[in-house]
Amino acid sequence: MRARRALLYMPGDDLRKIRKATTLKVDCVCLDLEDGVAANRKPEARATLAAALQELDFGGSERLARINPLGSGLEAEDLAAALAGRPDGIVIPKVEDAEPVRWASAQIEAVERKNSWPVGAIQLIVLVETARGIVNLPQIARAGERLQALIFGAEDLAGDIGALRTPEAWEVFYARSAVVTHAAAYGLQAIDMVYIDFKDLPGLVQEATQGAQLGFAGKQVIHPDQVEPVQTAFTPGAAAIAYALRVVEASRQHQADGFGAFALDGKMIDAPVVKAAERVLARARAAGKIA
Ligand code: COA
Ligand code: MG
Repeated sequence: MRARRALLYMPGDDLRKIRKATTLKVDCVCLDLEDGVAANRKPEARATLAAALQELDFGGSERLARINPLGSGLEAEDLAAALAGRPDGIVIPKVEDAEPVRWASAQIEAVERKNSWPVGAIQLIVLVETARGIVNLPQIARAGERLQALIFGAEDLAGDIGALRTPEAWEVFYARSAVVTHAAAYGLQAIDMVYIDFKDLPGLVQEATQGAQLGFAGKQVIHPDQVEPVQTAFTPGAAAIAYALRVVEASRQHQADGFGAFALDGKMIDAPVVKAAERVLARARAAGKIA
């Protein structure tokens, strides 16, 4: 699976920010039609987004478009405009059950067939950010083949459950952790919440590090200054990579000698520790840190 360490949003009607995004080395660029765009600017944003996806070169960044949620009355036109730009993937917000994934998958397939594009290539990523979305995570996580990742939305969730946001984010911890767990259970990536205080980089790094520790593969970001610190927080460091390589190699040797558990640097190593080391290496590989 590709690296999605930082997923940078920008309003779909803001060509200046979209152009700026083409110059940033960010894993994912997400042109937004939802909450980043004023209600009276949706048609303008659709046109700008489609033209930008068609004409601009985003380099190695994944090109994503976020549509409005199902039931908003905006979703069909949003999706049609986004698909006109042949994005790498579509992001659907406020998903509460399997239906949005099924609906979008069918719409995308029709467009892929009409254009003779490879069927199944355009991917889906969904935001789970309501109480209903959290309790329905099992059905959402297995809603369709195109689904690649689950994004956790803390601001919307807090509003939905009546929680008051705190810097420690304990009020959303159950939901945040549920998203990672369900993503892992169904082979998806999990992408963590936005840190809205974009001037506070130490706070951002702290929250991103916590997200990486919880098992998230990346984090949503809203400002160019957040990209580099977040991508670094979700990239295994040199020491972590070196240790993971030692664990995997020592395990291979001990398995050959008939030992499942052994000691390395005074710590017990067995299958789950080796599995965790392999995950570190997979992330390092996706980030281009090792071959
Ligand atoms: N993507 C790309 N470029 C961005 C950007 C973004 N999300 N946010 C800011 N920039 C650009 C600005 O255009 C500016 O570029 P310039 O120097 O060429 O003019 C530069 O980065 C510095 O921006 P700054 O002045 O610090 O921020 P701002 O006050 O212009 O904007 C926000 C602050 C929060 C409004 C802006 O970051 C933003 O729109 N973020 C995304 C909002 C969004 O999409 N929300 C919905 C999803 S949660
Ligand atoms: Mg939201």
